[in-house]
Amino acid sequence: MDTANQRLTLAIDRRIDEPGGIARLRLRSLDGAPLAPFTAGAHLDVHVCDGEIDLWRQYSLCSDPQASEYYEIGVLRDPNSRGGSETLHRIAREGNILEIEGPRNHFPLHEEAPHSLLFGGGIGVTPMMAMARRLRALGKEFTLHYCTRSRSVTAFCGEVEAAGLSDVVVYHHDDEFETKLDLNAELAAAREGAHLYVCGPQGFMDWVISRALEFGIGDERIHREFFSADVDVSGENFEVVAERSGVSVSVESEETIAKALAKAGVKVDVKCEEGVCGTCVADVLEGEIDHRDHFLTEEEKREGEMMCVCCSRAKGKRIVLDL
Ligand code: FES
Repeated sequence: MDTANQRLTLAIDRRIDEPGGIARLRLRSLDGAPLAPFTAGAHLDVHVCDGEIDLWRQYSLCSDPQASEYYEIGVLRDPNSRGGSETLHRIAREGNILEIEGPRNHFPLHEEAPHSLLFGGGIGVTPMMAMARRLRALGKEFTLHYCTRSRSVTAFCGEVEAAGLSDVVVYHHDDEFETKLDLNAELAAAREGAHLYVCGPQGFMDWVISRALEFGIGDERIHREFFSADVDVSGENFEVVAERSGVSVSVESEETIAKALAKAGVKVDVKCEEGVCGTCVADVLEGEIDHRDHFLTEEEKREGEMMCVCCSRAKGKRIVLDL
């Protein structure tokens, strides 16, 4: 079943508060009907709505992809976010209802790989939990390296045990020399054809990806998912043309294409506004793109046929979109 475009109303059946400000939310259908299975690495788009906050946020599924009784997500309370996670922590009470889209998967598992290396930093472990469950079910060889600041803020320990994953999850804590991740050693030991998955803070991801490339793991075997990213949307003014709508508008130096078009009456769906979810991708008919997102692959960026209009800009004075 293709769940990418499904919209669901689900109830919070259980909330489990874990160390490190992480709330695990188990979501069930209102009538107890089974939920569609998802593929490991998938996320839900969650409508976070309370007072002035009205946002869609993406949360990776950490439950068993094959289980149909509930979906589980992990939500980190992040005081530096734009209010989505703080609000969700506040309103997420058992019995409350959430509006959901998905599951969608931009971070799929390559199940045929002979060996998989999973690296989760902090809350970035959530998609890895679903991947680890799936790889275990398939009887595949893998290790999940779970990196956190310290043991006291490490979530999911009980769940790792309950899921029978203790033998394949290796914990690394920044404040414990003896558990520090020896990334070089792990990469050196990767088997021929291994695939690598990484999710977590940007610095952690950049570190793992650059080392993996140095160790000769091809970009096509390195898979990443950004939860959020710092995007610089500023630059020179340029003109954007929405060809099908017959609209042309100037994009100012601190403005995004999506916002400029919205002012001119052309609505583009946006969710994360940070170039990580892919909701706003538009086809480009003319013009050179200044990609600022973390969603498109390097190959897609090189092809220059689409762009994330919530953050990317034009390199020249004009860009024409199929909108
Ligand atoms: S809205 Fe998420 S990538 Fe643009």
